[in-house]
Amino acid sequence: MNKIFIDACFGKKTEYTPIWLMRQAGRYLPEYMKVRGQAGTFLDLCHNPKLAAEVTLQPVDILNVDAAILFSDILVVPNEMGMELEFIKGFGPKFPNPIKTEEQLNNLKMDAAEKLTYVYETIHLIKKDLNPNKALIGFTGSPWTLATYMIEGQGTKTYAVVKKLLYENPDFLHKLLAKLEIVITEYLEKQIEAGVDAVQIFDSWASALEKDSFFEFSWKYMVSIAEKIKAKYPNIPVILFPKGVGAYLDGIYGNFDVFGVDWGTPIELAKEKLGDKYVLQGNLEPTRLYSKSAIDSGVKHILDVMKNERHIFNLGHGILPTTPEENVKKVVTIS
Ligand code: CP3
Repeated sequence: MNKIFIDACFGKKTEYTPIWLMRQAGRYLPEYMKVRGQAGTFLDLCHNPKLAAEVTLQPVDILNVDAAILFSDILVVPNEMGMELEFIKGFGPKFPNPIKTEEQLNNLKMDAAEKLTYVYETIHLIKKDLNPNKALIGFTGSPWTLATYMIEGQGTKTYAVVKKLLYENPDFLHKLLAKLEIVITEYLEKQIEAGVDAVQIFDSWASALEKDSFFEFSWKYMVSIAEKIKAKYPNIPVILFPKGVGAYLDGIYGNFDVFGVDWGTPIELAKEKLGDKYVLQGNLEPTRLYSKSAIDSGVKHILDVMKNERHIFNLGHGILPTTPEENVKKVVTIS
């Protein structure tokens, strides 16, 4: 067993720069669309271990990336905490009853991690079929990103509802974040017990926060989860991906292994500020994948800066559904 991805997460010298791609399983792959059609709704697919395992493995076979990422969604956690969830075509995720009251907060179910059994079953099935030289990455949303969805009820451009709460009733928000920290830690522990080789925390909405608020309402909770995971499972790499915080890199701290660099942060800046402390993952701009010449220049720049040292190749955010499959293959081949 020789997992190049895991070696790279721990900063070991590797033969080549390992690669996986955020949202590597998904709608740009006709093979995914076929299984998605069989499954019913997107949530039905997440709830079906056999099919979820199948779509997890598709990009590993088709693209020959070095890691698989568990097929699921960050929003299954609030869903199992008792919040009704819908995925609406052309609109995205929606919680019809967002959290507004203390009563709703108190009613959130704290045993959600125990109910996510379909995720652990998916992990068991993936591990049976995954090449032992490839790693399986488990994941969760960060407390802040999940809280944003739970309070706004859907994606948002302004974050008006959650940020009004942040300024007017920070204790309420901290109470929700603390609950999420507990559930998420247990969820990651159970994913690890089921067999994932590494975990990533997605903080997709980090960019909504000013610097001090980011550290108080988001980063602190992510680092606290990472500390607990590292204390219990030192051999499991922890990857943190806060999107849109390139201006805050001086404040980044904590016990974790890999820092996910988003595409808005120049890779040379991330290397200068964090490269000695953390392995860096990223950060090709996803819309470069619409253009072969933009792929060539973007990949070259990142590889020239990182020189196969303490680096895992990835995009700087997820693959877009309309990306040509052959261009995704090209990124993997030349990187
Ligand atoms: O391949 C992988 O990366 C693993 C699977 C994965 C999905 N979602 C599948 C998915 C992962 C890691 C996620 C994480 C996720 N989900 C995030 C964090 C990452 C990021 O992109 O910032 C967020 C914010 C979500 C919430 C979410 N789920 C949204 C906003 C949407 C709608 C997106 C859209 O374009 O419609 C989803 C649905 C979703 N999650 C899809 C997939 C493949 C598309 C659903 C479908 O097949 O119809």
